[in-house]
Amino acid sequence: MNYSEVLENARKNIGPKCKVCLVCDGLGCGNTLPGPGSKGPGNGANDNYKAWRKIKLNMDTIVENTEIDTSTEFFGYKLAFPVVSGPIGSIRKQFNPTDDIRDFNDKCMAACESRGLLHFYSTGLEPMVQEANIATRLRHSNCGVPIINPEADDSIIHQMNNCNETVSPLAMGVVVDSAGLPHLKACHGTGGTKSIEQLRMLKEKARVPFIVKGVMTVEGALKAVEAGADAIIVSNHGGRVLSDVPATAEVLEEISEAVDHRAKVIVDGGIRSGIDLFKAYALGADLCLICRPVLVSYYGGRQEGIECYFDKLYEELKDTMYMCGARKISDIKRKMIRVKFD
Ligand SMILES: Cc1cc2nc3c(=O)[nH]c(=O)nc-3n(C[C@H](O)[C@H](O)[C@H](O)COP(=O)(O)O)c2cc1C
Repeated sequence: MNYSEVLENARKNIGPKCKVCLVCDGLGCGNTLPGPGSKGPGNGANDNYKAWRKIKLNMDTIVENTEIDTSTEFFGYKLAFPVVSGPIGSIRKQFNPTDDIRDFNDKCMAACESRGLLHFYSTGLEPMVQEANIATRLRHSNCGVPIINPEADDSIIHQMNNCNETVSPLAMGVVVDSAGLPHLKACHGTGGTKSIEQLRMLKEKARVPFIVKGVMTVEGALKAVEAGADAIIVSNHGGRVLSDVPATAEVLEEISEAVDHRAKVIVDGGIRSGIDLFKAYALGADLCLICRPVLVSYYGGRQEGIECYFDKLYEELKDTMYMCGARKISDIKRKMIRVKFD
């Protein structure tokens, strides 16, 4: 199966809300929410995508012709290249009523296991799904990292304890920006935005490296670090929680400089190719998260479709490193890109 076939199959299976555009740039889905789109007026996902296009590569092929090593590590886990697939809470509500998020998580983790990557999975809102996700993680060499919704603290702690009951995951996270997700607001009960103190308490309960997802400012990043976060995800939830915030590519460098290696910096939002992975690394990211294209690839070929997309990302990253003079991930430097956001 090649990537064009994956997209062709996805068009038949994904339902009417996603147009399976040639490039997943947020234009086809606009404000389709529930669905794959962005919060009204619907420009957020496209803003993220466009920002990566404003970063150009400095090509340099006057370097020794040696092997390319794309591998990296995340809290002791060796990744084949610096990408993880992103959390999705429900596909039944977002795409087709008969779809099952448990199968999506299973196929994602299977693909990650076979390609040496990690799947950051949403624990969702249903205990039945949460239990199935834990079993799936254990079945697939523990290659899943739970990302929990900002529900009431006792509910988050309950989920963390359940995750730790057998084999603890590599890390755990809370997605703080889901506080703004229109169709989830009603389901979070007394949950919602979290204070530094609440995050500090949740970090202690996690007992494994703690991730805060949904940071978009230097101030927010410093608050997450103060709370003890071991990693932050620079993310605006793919434009789904607030419109007219900057693109993640625009704030990544200043946030990464401010964090200054006190926490790992992960970024998502409009990252579509291995070229984008290279750019994110050059701007200071330790890892990239990709969501929508993985979902499309699932509809286009389940595990095989996702593997096909991962293979494409890997080849693109390898080629970009080769052409810009980087032989290993730590060789990727700021001077290898030029950035013009204005
Ligand atoms: C249909 C859909 C459902 C999502 N559900 C969740 C979720 O439950 N938890 C979460 O942390 N992020 C969720 N996200 C956000 C993604 O994990 C990610 O932050 C965002 O889509 C940006 O990445 P992308 O541009 O590669 O899609 C969801 C995104 C989409 C499109």
